[in-house]
Formats: sequence, structure tokens, C-alpha cells
Amino acid sequence: MQKLEVVGAYKLKGQVKISGSKNASLPILAATLLSNKRIILRNLPRVRDIETMVYLLESLGSKTKFHGNSLTINNSNQFKKFASYNLVKTMRAGILVLGPLLAKFGSAKVSLPGGCAIGTRPVDIHLKALSKLGVKYKISQGYIHATAPKGLKGNKIFFSKISVGATENLIIAASLAKGTTILSNCAIEPEIKDLVNFLNKIGCKINWLSRRKIKIIGVEQVQGAKYSIMFDRIEAGTYLIAAAATESNLKIQSINPTIIKTEINILKRIGAKIKISKNEVKIIGSKKIKNTKIKTAPYPGFPTDLQAQMMVLLCKANKKSEIKEEIFENRFMHVSELNRMGAKISINGNKAVINGKVDFKAAELMATDLRASVSLILAALNAKGKSIINRIYHLDRGYEKIEKKFQKIGAKIKRIN
Ligand code: UD1
Repeated sequence: MQKLEVVGAYKLKGQVKISGSKNASLPILAATLLSNKRIILRNLPRVRDIETMVYLLESLGSKTKFHGNSLTINNSNQFKKFASYNLVKTMRAGILVLGPLLAKFGSAKVSLPGGCAIGTRPVDIHLKALSKLGVKYKISQGYIHATAPKGLKGNKIFFSKISVGATENLIIAASLAKGTTILSNCAIEPEIKDLVNFLNKIGCKINWLSRRKIKIIGVEQVQGAKYSIMFDRIEAGTYLIAAAATESNLKIQSINPTIIKTEINILKRIGAKIKISKNEVKIIGSKKIKNTKIKTAPYPGFPTDLQAQMMVLLCKANKKSEIKEEIFENRFMHVSELNRMGAKISINGNKAVINGKVDFKAAELMATDLRASVSLILAALNAKGKSIINRIYHLDRGYEKIEKKFQKIGAKIKRIN
């Protein structure tokens, strides 16, 4: 099994080009199922979750071909409606094919996503909302068996809780429903706006009515298109935090800084110097990091996907900090590993209290989920000596060329067997 060897503590320097967004690519890939025309997606990150989604599309009959970061998709003979456990178990976003399959064929059998280290992650909000469009479903032997006997029909839907995936599934499904759908209390993550832009480009009729309200007028069929995926704001945030945590100077490139305003403001507040230009952010890490209180929240709040990375940075603060995890109930798996490296973090329910002035010590470590894994890299970059990170297959799910990007900015990091 592959591991990462990280030798710290060295400063980082240079530029990082941010890849296309994994979390924008996944729903857009699922949405390509709506079309029978050729679609070309550009700026896809070559990470394992994207490969898994592409396998899933192929298992449903799509023909696909990668050229670097571009993917050509042709669905003219696509006819299968079955998403197997083997493909959905490793990646919860597999549930996103349910909406498009129901919209296109009126029935689908999709595996329930497997258990997940960061929480129970149910799909009840997806199913309840789809039933409002006329979907009948039953769950048996780990599969959702769903049909829309009279086809999907537009309706008014209020999401009881803000959910990124449920908002995406419903936008895609309602795009081919008869009549108009109004979705309220939607998630407004930038990746959802990217999905809407893509769908409108292939001929859907989707409008934002207000901040969390979307109107979708169903269309009978959609076209092909070429579309370029937005940048990965979580990857951008990870490298910004890496710079702040190692007192380094970095330029984070190929991004839209206005999308990551919340993260930039927090980094400024705790002491980093930041210069923003059109497609780039320059960060100068500071020796003095101020303590703070942060809670994760749906966009535009601070993202749960940067919580573990931010915790490493706050271990370097002058005093005690606090992070409240408001999205997932079990997303502190990195804490015990960070504490083994000398951090002093205690957990009380969904609140982590982080003592500052930590001098990280190198150690052999175990990665537990995607974002927790990268937080261990950040801590290891800070610790003098050699750290080994096991189970890095989690990292490969979502960070493109991670060790190459870190090597390019001077980190002593390599993959070993
Ligand atoms: C997406 C992101 C993930 C990010 C998360 C929150 C992708 C592929 N993944 O995940 O990286 O961490 O948003 O920003 O884009 N919930 C229910 N019932 C449901 C659906 C969700 O109770 O049917 C709960 C979840 O358990 C969680 C909360 O709602 O507590 C938010 O989850 P959701 O926004 O749906 O996250 P995902 O779409 O799975």
C-alpha cells in the first residue's frame, strides 16, 4: 500500500496552479446523462472520485474518452438504469445519477451510498424531494428502486435542511420534468452555480429567483456543449492554509478570489498578509498567528471541507482557539492523529478546543478521510524530521498530483510503497 513520506520543517515558496473542482465535476458528470449529444468537459481534475464517476457513467452505457483534463462523453446508446453498489460504495456522489436517470427513463435502481467515516450521511432529503416530482420508491437489499409512473412533474419543493447533493439531484431531475419546479432553501455552493451554468448551456431553463430559490422550467430534450469546470476552492484553501501554517510565501493561481472571500478574511484576521488580483492570491505567512473562533456552515460560511486543515493552522496560534463543526457529526477523526504529533486539541460534542503554540513532532500517521489526510500533510510539513502517512488512497480521491504540487513549491514529500 502506498504511503507518503514528508520531511519537515521547511518553508514553501513559489506558485501553485489550482485544478478543476472535484465537487463541481461530479454533479456535472451526472447531469451529462440527460443528453444524447456529444459533451466535452474541460478542466476536470484527474482524481479517483472523477474516475469512479466516469466508470459509473460507462456502466450506464456512456462512451467516454479522456484527453488530459478534457473528457468527451457520448450517450447516444445509453440505456442502462442500474448503478451498482461496487461503484457507489466508494463515493457518495454516486447518488447523483438517481435524478438524471429518473428524468430520462422514468425509473432507476441505484445503490444506497455506503457508510462514511465522517457521519451517517443519509439521502432522505433527496428521496423526499424526488417524491414531490412524482417519484415512487422503495428500498430493498441496499438499493433504491425508484419509478415515476407518469413521468416527472414539476412542483414546489422546500428543503427542510440545506443539502448540496439534494439540491443538485433535484435541479438535474427537474430540468426534464413536465412544467415548472420551484426549489426553496437551496444550497448555494459555487459548485451548484457551476452545475446550473452547465445545464443552461445544454439547453435547460434554470433561473435564480432569489438567494436560495431556483426556478426550473422543464424542457423535453437537451443539447451537447463544451464546458469548462470551475476551480477547486477547497484545494485553493488547502494551499493557502499550508502557506499560513508554514510561514511561507505562495501564489495561488487559476482561481476566482471572490469565491473564497470567507477563507481569505479569516486568514487575514489571524495574521496572514494577502494580496488579491484577478485570478490569483498571494499569501505571506506570518510568524504570529492569532487565535480565533470558527464554525463550519453552508456556503458562504466557512466550509467543513477546510475544517481539518484550519485546525492545524490554529495549533500554531498564540492562544486557545475553537472550531465548531456544524455540518457533519463525526468529522474530528484527524484530532487523535494531530494529538499524537504534539497538538493539544480536546473535543466536546461538535466543538474542538485547540491549544496554541504547538511544536509539531514527526510521526507515523494514519489517514482517515480525504480532508483529514491533507491536514496530516500540513502538520507533517511543520514537524521537524520524517513523518510517514499511511492509507493515502483517501488523498488520491480528491487532490490532483498532490505530492508533485507540493514538491514544486519546495516541500520534501514523496510517495513510497
Ligand atoms: C457535499 C460535498 C462535500 C461537503 C458537503 C458539505 C460533494 C461531492 N460533496 O456533500 O465535500 O463536505 O457537501 O458542504 O459535493 N443530509 C441529510 N439527508 C440528506 C442529505 C444530507 O440529513 O438526504 C445531511 C448530511 O448528513 C449533512 C448535511 O445534511 O449533515 C449536509 O450534507 P450535504 O450538503 O448533502 O453534503 P453532500 O452533498 O453529501
